[in-house]
Amino acid sequence: MEVIVLPTATATASLAADIIEHLLRSEPHPVLGLATGSTPEPLYAELTRRHKEAGLDFAHARAFMLDEYVGLPADHPERYAAVIQREVTDPLEIPVDAVHGPDGAAADPVAECARYEQAILDAGGIDVQIAGIGSNGHIAFNEPGSALTSLTRPKTLNARTRQDNARFFSSPEEVPRHVLTQGLGTIGRSRHLLLLASGEGKADAVARAVEGPLSASCPASIVQLHRHATVLLDEPAASRLQ
Ligand code: F6R
Repeated sequence: MEVIVLPTATATASLAADIIEHLLRSEPHPVLGLATGSTPEPLYAELTRRHKEAGLDFAHARAFMLDEYVGLPADHPERYAAVIQREVTDPLEIPVDAVHGPDGAAADPVAECARYEQAILDAGGIDVQIAGIGSNGHIAFNEPGSALTSLTRPKTLNARTRQDNARFFSSPEEVPRHVLTQGLGTIGRSRHLLLLASGEGKADAVARAVEGPLSASCPASIVQLHRHATVLLDEPAASRLQ
C-alpha cells in the first residue's frame, strides 16, 4: 500500500488521472472500476478534460460500477447507472454497451449479484478500481461487519450512510435502504486499487483504514491487504494520520 498526500483534491485528481491515462495508453482493452459519489468528481472532470482537449481515448475501455441502489424507479436520476452514464461514461464517450453495473431492479437480486461477479471475471478482471471511503469506513457499500472475502451481494445500508447520501435526494426517507455492491473480495481482486479521499470529514475513516488494524469493522482497511493499492489523500483527509 502506498499513501500519497497532496495539498488539494485537484492535485490528487490529477495524479489519479495520470494513473488512468497510463493504463489507457498501455492496455488495448482497459477495464475500469467506477465509483459514484462526490469524491471522484474532480477525477472524472479531469479525465473528461483530457478526453476533449488531449485526445485521451476511451473508445476501447470497459467499465464496471461498484454498486447500485435497489428499488429506485427506472427513470430516477440518482440510480447509479444513470449518474455514471450522465457524469462519466457519456462525457468520456465509453460505448454504452461497455458499461456494466448490477441491476438494482432485478427480480432475483442474489442471482443478479452472481451474474455480475461472473461478468467481471469474464471481462478479465478490473485493471484500475476507483473507490471512495464512507465516513463510517465503508468501501463500495460494504458496511462495517462485511466479510473480508465477500463477493457481490445485496446489502442493507446503515443509518449513517443513508444520512450521508441524503444530500442527493429530496428527503432522507427517499434514500434506498438496500443496495447491490461488489464485495471486499471482489475489490481485492482488482489489479490496482485507487482509494481517494478528500476533506476533513473523511480524516477519521482514513486513519482507521490506513493505520488501524485490518478489520471488518473498517471495511476500507482492505487497502492494507491489497496487492497494489494507492491511497490518494488531500491534506485535510490525511490530517489524522500519525
Ligand atoms: C459509491 C461508493 C461509496 C462512496 C462513499 C463515499 O459508488 O461506493 O463507497 O465512495 O460513500 O462517498 P462520497 O464520495 O460521496 O463521500
